[in-house]
Amino acid sequence: MATADLPAGDVLVRVHYSNVNYKDGLAIMRTGHRQIVGHFPFVPGVDFSGIVETSDSRRFAPGDKVILTGWGVGESQWGGFAEMARVRSEWLVPLPDGMSLRQSMALGSAGLAAMMCVEVLERFGIDRSREVLVTGAAGGVGSVAVMLLHKLGFTVVGSTRRPGEGAYLRMLGADRIVDAATLAQPPAEPLMEERWGAAIDNVGGTTLANLLASIIYGGAIASIGLVGGRDLNTTVIPFIRRNIALLGIDTVYTPAERRTDAWRRLAKLLPDGLSEEVIDEIPLEQVPARAAAVMRGELRGRTIVSLAD
Ligand SMILES: NC(=O)c1ccc[n+]([C@@H]2O[C@H](COP(=O)([O-])OP(=O)(O)OC[C@H]3O[C@@H](n4cnc5c(N)ncnc54)[C@H](OP(=O)(O)O)[C@@H]3O)[C@@H](O)[C@H]2O)c1
Repeated sequence: MATADLPAGDVLVRVHYSNVNYKDGLAIMRTGHRQIVGHFPFVPGVDFSGIVETSDSRRFAPGDKVILTGWGVGESQWGGFAEMARVRSEWLVPLPDGMSLRQSMALGSAGLAAMMCVEVLERFGIDRSREVLVTGAAGGVGSVAVMLLHKLGFTVVGSTRRPGEGAYLRMLGADRIVDAATLAQPPAEPLMEERWGAAIDNVGGTTLANLLASIIYGGAIASIGLVGGRDLNTTVIPFIRRNIALLGIDTVYTPAERRTDAWRRLAKLLPDGLSEEVIDEIPLEQVPARAAAVMRGELRGRTIVSLAD
């Protein structure tokens, strides 16, 4: 496609990096089923970072380094699996000081999501002496969440379906690993043993129902994902007997100010970014195969897509 074929927008960005998220997997692999992408031709890719080529916006000038995550890009708007993207300036965030374009996409929507999950639990006021559980821990959001919680001094438990990723999760900062299968059954009772001070849940479904019954009195769960299912069958008992909270996170339509603050905090908390053990860099040609792998829950950490020459 020629640059002239790109949709309308006031900023043209030369894309340097994108990445593969679970939602990209849904968009690429299940277009007819889940209707993430409803019209063609279409360019998927929910995130990108790059350098402004031309701008009709006062906020950005040619040469500025920018990040885009969310706003329906890669879903209803053309996205980042391309060398050029023309977008609305209000969707762009300046690259935070101290962060490279490559590292910004190593974090991407997953990093932003993990940061916002941690912030929502902090604001709620969880008991810092108790363990925080991260489900889907070896995935993108999970890996960054484990790192951030560890950095902030929490005791972190990673739940994974892949026991072979135990060493990887410990390297990220997990204090303990649990087998995801032990959390995947519906709870036997509305209230079970109080195990977790808080949780960041990527899985949803019966796992989330299970966690709700096992959070300590006054604890909270940040619900970010649905890789295990979107239905939630539970009771009100944990809420009204244990004073717990289920806190929802959406990164797609997060207001610009909160988004910019979260990116700055990511740059501060992870000054060296993600280590190379967490990052897998691929060329654009490998995106379809990775989209299939993300749907099978096989990706570890973050897969970035290199688009610059
Ligand atoms: N609300 C938002 O704004 C927002 C933003 C970003 C992401 N998300 C959501 O967050 C979730 C994670 O995204 P991601 O990009 O981090 O995906 P990912 O890299 O594929 O990570 C998901 C992880 O969950 C585990 N998993 C996969 N399938 C599973 C299943 N059927 N049952 C139980 N566990 C399973 C796997 O970890 P283990 O092998 O360690 O078990 C997998 O690595 C997705 O649902 C995504 O849509 C939401």
